[in-house]
Amino acid sequence: MKKRILSGMRPTGSLHIGHLSVLQNWVELQKEYECYFAIVDWHALTTAYEDKISLGELSKEIALDWLSVGIDPDISSIFIQSQVKEHAELHLLFSMFTPISWLERVPTYKDQLQQLGGEGKDLHTYGFLGYPLLQAADILIYKANAVPVGEDQVPHIELSREVARRFNHLYDAVFPEPQALIGKVPLLPGVDGRKMSKSYNNTISLTASTDEIGYRVRQMITDPQRIRKDDPGHPEVCVVHKFHAIYTSDVGRIEEECKGGKFGCVACKKYLAENIDRVLAPYRERRKAWEEDGKVERVLLEGAEKARTTASKTMEDVRKAMYF
Ligand code: TRP
Repeated sequence: MKKRILSGMRPTGSLHIGHLSVLQNWVELQKEYECYFAIVDWHALTTAYEDKISLGELSKEIALDWLSVGIDPDISSIFIQSQVKEHAELHLLFSMFTPISWLERVPTYKDQLQQLGGEGKDLHTYGFLGYPLLQAADILIYKANAVPVGEDQVPHIELSREVARRFNHLYDAVFPEPQALIGKVPLLPGVDGRKMSKSYNNTISLTASTDEIGYRVRQMITDPQRIRKDDPGHPEVCVVHKFHAIYTSDVGRIEEECKGGKFGCVACKKYLAENIDRVLAPYRERRKAWEEDGKVERVLLEGAEKARTTASKTMEDVRKAMYF
């Protein structure tokens, strides 16, 4: 039997090329694993509970991003967390035996409390403390063996493992202990050299057109010491070069030519824009096909159905183990 994977993303806005390596990793994993990909809208509410946002619209946007990159609904389940109510039931049952101290000591808890607290958000809420427990329910309800995530999520996967162990010990051996699959995510800066983030308006969106890509690449910060085209360049301080490292197969040649003052920034940017465009073009094409009326909605409905089938089987095991 194929091993199972679950992963999730919060619907907080459409994705940009900083997210691409994560999604490309998911696309690869589909070949080997039975995959569940959740748009975790309840998790978005743990921090955005005061904002009147359209979780439905944001969720559809993310689903479209996933589909356009190549997540295949014929082999994987793509669904919205809140459409599979069993996640809430398992979260509740887990809350019965999870010590509060386990949640308080999750490093992201105190960090976020402080960071978002500084931005005026009061996160001394029950839901925010329980964030990683809801995540544990997301994972364990599919009896997932592995969870592809970034490094920052490791403490959450560790908590999921502890919850699985505690359940299995208290009641019955229902849950496998999920492994974190840490994807290598190259850290791409935004075009201005700061962290890539929608709120800095320094991203290249997954849907960017050829012209938009060109515009964004022209905005990229280059070596400030290089004034004339034949000055020797310093690729190690250049944003354009960081992108070439990922998007350009003959990056070694460019690096040498830049250092030797033989490849000017204008030509270098033009070459990068072409290479990024070559990667994004097929995604734009596929997106068009998925944008037809009702298609994404159907994928999400069917995805929730498939997810629910697996989730409700697990819940039968859980109820039987905990009470009768
Ligand atoms: N906490 C994850 C993040 O911020 C999102 C998430 C929620 C998740 N449930 C999950 C990730 C289950 C993997 C598996 O990125």
